[in-house]
Amino acid sequence: MRGSYCYTLLSLVFLGSLKDIIQLCGADPIDGFTDVPLTEYNFELQKPYDVPLEERYSFVNGVRRLWVYADDKPHDPNSQTQPRTEVRMRGLDYSSGIWQFEGYGFVPNGTSGATVAQIHGAAKGATTIILRIYNGDMRYYSRDLVATNLYDKWFRLNIIHDVDVGSVTVFIDGVQKFRVKDQGPGDLYFKCGVYAAPANISYYMESRWKDIKIYKKY
Ligand SMILES: *[C@@H]1O[C@H](CO)[C@@H](O)[C@H](O)[C@H]1NC(C)=O
Ligand SMILES: *[C@@H]1O[C@H](CO)[C@@H](O)[C@H](O)[C@H]1NC(C)=O
Repeated sequence: MRGSYCYTLLSLVFLGSLKDIIQLCGADPIDGFTDVPLTEYNFELQKPYDVPLEERYSFVNGVRRLWVYADDKPHDPNSQTQPRTEVRMRGLDYSSGIWQFEGYGFVPNGTSGATVAQIHGAAKGATTIILRIYNGDMRYYSRDLVATNLYDKWFRLNIIHDVDVGSVTVFIDGVQKFRVKDQGPGDLYFKCGVYAAPANISYYMESRWKDIKIYKKY
């Protein structure tokens, strides 16, 4: 099926964009990128400030499970933000160049109004991109639809941030789903987990992550 699709596309190679065709014919988001070595230090945990980590996070058999409740406290007593339990990828000196986050995510049915992945930092505003789950679908903030039907299954998420060009591209299961301009450079870092949206949130929010990798293009 895929082969014949590619064959048709390849016969149009001189009419279309070679880059688009390579994409459709199985190029992988990590092609051309180099793995950035990570240690546990790079995985900083944020959770409601008044509860122990193990009441909102577990890390078993390579799977990080993060959960939070709608009436939880913010991550810092001085913060007015919504509750979160998130991994913050620290120590990467990610302020220019082309970077990529990769992880396998899982969101249980019922979790809604939760940011499950984001790039924090921007020249304008607090974030470059927010990817939220509402009723099983993934949205850019509460707006553009990025992907549908993600409940109760593992999906591969890749986010490429070309800081120099100012673009962010999102892939689900290796397929490009969304592309948007960023909000300018800043103190940037990737995050994943659960961070409650301002409205329309379920009481319980959870996401799981495994095989998290960071790549850079040199
Ligand atoms: C999620 O749970 C609801 C309520 O139990 C159910 O109606 C719905 O079909 C479930 N969705 C999926 C994708 O399993
Ligand atoms: C919350 O959900 C309601 C009903 O679907 C919708 O009209 C409203 O725009 C949503 N609010 C936000 C902030 O997403």
